[in-house]
Amino acid sequence: MFAQSVALARVKPSATVAASANARALKAAGRDIISLDAGEPDFDTPDNIKEAAIKAIREGKTKYTDPDGIPELKDAVVGKFARENGLTYTRAQIHVAPGGKPVIYNAMVASLNPGDEVVIPAPYWVSYPDMVLLASGTPVFVPTTAERGFKVAPEALEAAITPKTKWLILNSPSNPSGAAYTKAELRALADVLLRHPQVWVLTDDMYEHLTFGDFEFWTIAQVEPALYARTLTMNGVSKAYAMTGWRIGYAGGPEALITAMRKVASQTTSNPSSISQWAAVEALNGPQDFIKPRAKAFEERRDLVVSMLNQASGLRCPTPEGAFYVYPSAEGLMGKTAPTGKLIDSDKAFAAELLESEGVSVVFGEAFGLSPFFRISYATSNALLEDACGRIQRFCGAAR
Ligand SMILES: Cc1ncc(COP(=O)(O)O)c(C=O)c1O
Repeated sequence: MFAQSVALARVKPSATVAASANARALKAAGRDIISLDAGEPDFDTPDNIKEAAIKAIREGKTKYTDPDGIPELKDAVVGKFARENGLTYTRAQIHVAPGGKPVIYNAMVASLNPGDEVVIPAPYWVSYPDMVLLASGTPVFVPTTAERGFKVAPEALEAAITPKTKWLILNSPSNPSGAAYTKAELRALADVLLRHPQVWVLTDDMYEHLTFGDFEFWTIAQVEPALYARTLTMNGVSKAYAMTGWRIGYAGGPEALITAMRKVASQTTSNPSSISQWAAVEALNGPQDFIKPRAKAFEERRDLVVSMLNQASGLRCPTPEGAFYVYPSAEGLMGKTAPTGKLIDSDKAFAAELLESEGVSVVFGEAFGLSPFFRISYATSNALLEDACGRIQRFCGAAR
């Protein structure tokens, strides 16, 4: 009989993937479902990027490449970090993998020993703790509050660090809260980190290009150059270029870490798709003018969703700085009874009852390590968002 490994048994399946699959199954069974659970832009990949991929196929660029990326893509990444983040990396300091996810996983496998701790502010992206566990590390969670905009306080970070701390994982703008750190907020965290030279920083900048209003994006190695030698600056083309299915993520960091990550990739995934890599070269080197209008469209949707959710009885929805998520509190509904007669005693129950009563699929906050909240992805049309938020208002109004 099959028995899964001890390492895998520590890990739970991705709650966001499960929510999307559940919503898809209900839709296929004929239910009227609006999915606000998926973490991907509804925009299409720009045509110039598609054409670059087609050209790569026609030119026979269809063979194995270096396990951590073609030199042309590494050069494009070097150029991106210099142009957009003021960070200087050489080609030997760049890692390219089949998505942002394996970049993080390769870094964890390359660096963690049993007992090593990884500090993860909550709410967090669902995969961080489980990737740390799979790599034999120990996640250490630092809860944040809606009142502090879901951002980790310097004192809380200080208190979470021990001699065993190997990494801090920072994610700004955040999945699931949309919160983004200002330069001053990063400065304050950097001051803590300067006192603890054993701690490395993995900064997940996946949503860099999705910030709103006059918010200015900064990444920590840029704010504090003394941290450059122990920072892995991670990013990818999935969200900014609407390329989730192409599977290209990348990072810049100290050469010794990058060399170790290449060793992991060389014995596991090998290279990301050669065709996707050529598409990513075009994404990073080609026209960038479509990014701002798309961010503006997300900003309008954010405003719509925040306003409608704050009109729902019992919900409180902060206004985030970026990404395409909001993370409202359902605290005002705890202890109430849903139209089905079931008790709403957790964010998990809230999400299940909302799906049952109104056909709106959201992801419960427990999956992101902070309750009683839930995540809405507003990467869908304004018409669907208005319909969904109207249903959420009706659901909340009907709870007794
Ligand atoms: C914060 C964050 N990091 C990393 C990723 C992974 O991106 P990719 O699809 O490129 O693996 C995601 C995707 O949802 C994300 O939200």
